Amino acid sequence: MKDLPQLSNRVAAQFRLVSRHLYMNPLEKCNLKCKICYTKKTSPILSNAQILAFIDRYQDAHKLQTVTYCGGEVFALQSFPDLVNQTVARGAMVQVITNGTLDQLDLLAYPNRVNLIVSLDGLEEYHDANRGLGNFQKSIAFLQKAQRRGFHTEVFSIVTKQNYLQLNNFEEYLQTQLSQPVEVTYHPRKPPAYLDHHPVSNITGETEGFDFLSDTELVTLMKEKQTFPPKQLGCYQLGVMSDGKVYGCCEGITPLGVMDDEIADLLVHLRQRLIKWERENTLANCLGCSQPEFVCGIKRQLFLLQN
Ligand SMILES: C[S@@+](CC[C@H](N)C(=O)[O-])C[C@H]1O[C@@H](n2cnc3c(N)ncnc32)[C@H](O)[C@@H]1O
Ligand code: SF4
Ligand code: SF4
Repeated sequence: MKDLPQLSNRVAAQFRLVSRHLYMNPLEKCNLKCKICYTKKTSPILSNAQILAFIDRYQDAHKLQTVTYCGGEVFALQSFPDLVNQTVARGAMVQVITNGTLDQLDLLAYPNRVNLIVSLDGLEEYHDANRGLGNFQKSIAFLQKAQRRGFHTEVFSIVTKQNYLQLNNFEEYLQTQLSQPVEVTYHPRKPPAYLDHHPVSNITGETEGFDFLSDTELVTLMKEKQTFPPKQLGCYQLGVMSDGKVYGCCEGITPLGVMDDEIADLLVHLRQRLIKWERENTLANCLGCSQPEFVCGIKRQLFLLQN
């Protein structure tokens, strides 16, 4: 990759780092119907052949270190274990974001090359109120088995007003259940400013019992815990969605192009987004966002965080 003279050193370094990562959403369909899930369950599904052809073209153009698979629920696809195995066979690490209720672990051939990120929204009663009765225990059993088999494991956890004060209890509980410590990344419930501007992932779902965080709560959470988006941002990468469009991150609203485009062109378009970000950005020490006009609906809170 050529030098990036129009980006600051800091953002250029982050760009180099993230351009070794790909995010892939093979499908939006899911086996669960979580009450506060924000994604539309649209029909297109990318085949393994389409995904692997994109990975091959990416590797011809650029160094690739990690592929993150998300959905929908990827383990709802029978062909998913083969996709993971074939991705690892190409030399990449794989991350899978999953609800952990569908166990295909025995079919994954390279546990130590796979990081399983399981979504747990808090303690059992609260988690099951969102995800359905019995699903907390399934996901905990999935994590336990994954650790026994030698997979890397992490947890993603959605935060609302109702579980905001229970996060430390939740973390302590997790350590009692698991043989190895897990890192938890908190996802503040996507705020109305996100849902109002995202063209596809815009489902509000239920709010009773799962209220959006106030600005103060969101800012405190970002200060005290590891969150997504992170407080310094930098959360961009090429993100391929199930309809074949390619975005500048997993939450993108305006595509950079489509899967068939040249990889180099997609990366140039991503870089142009970051140049725009740097021209307009007023946040200090920030690693940038590929959707400067959107910023996941948290521009106001990021500004409050710094002031
Ligand atoms: C859309 S899910 C797809 C992967 C998988 N089905 C799962 O639940 O982990 C990706 C991540 O988004 C999180 N998520 C779902 N609804 C959310 C919301 N309203 N606000 C913030 N994060 C949300 C999920 O908990 C999960 O960690
Ligand atoms: S959060 Fe994940 S498991 Fe729940 S409905 Fe959405 S995609 Fe499915
Ligand atoms: S829109 Fe910006 S803040 Fe949100 S995930 Fe994408 S790059 Fe990160």
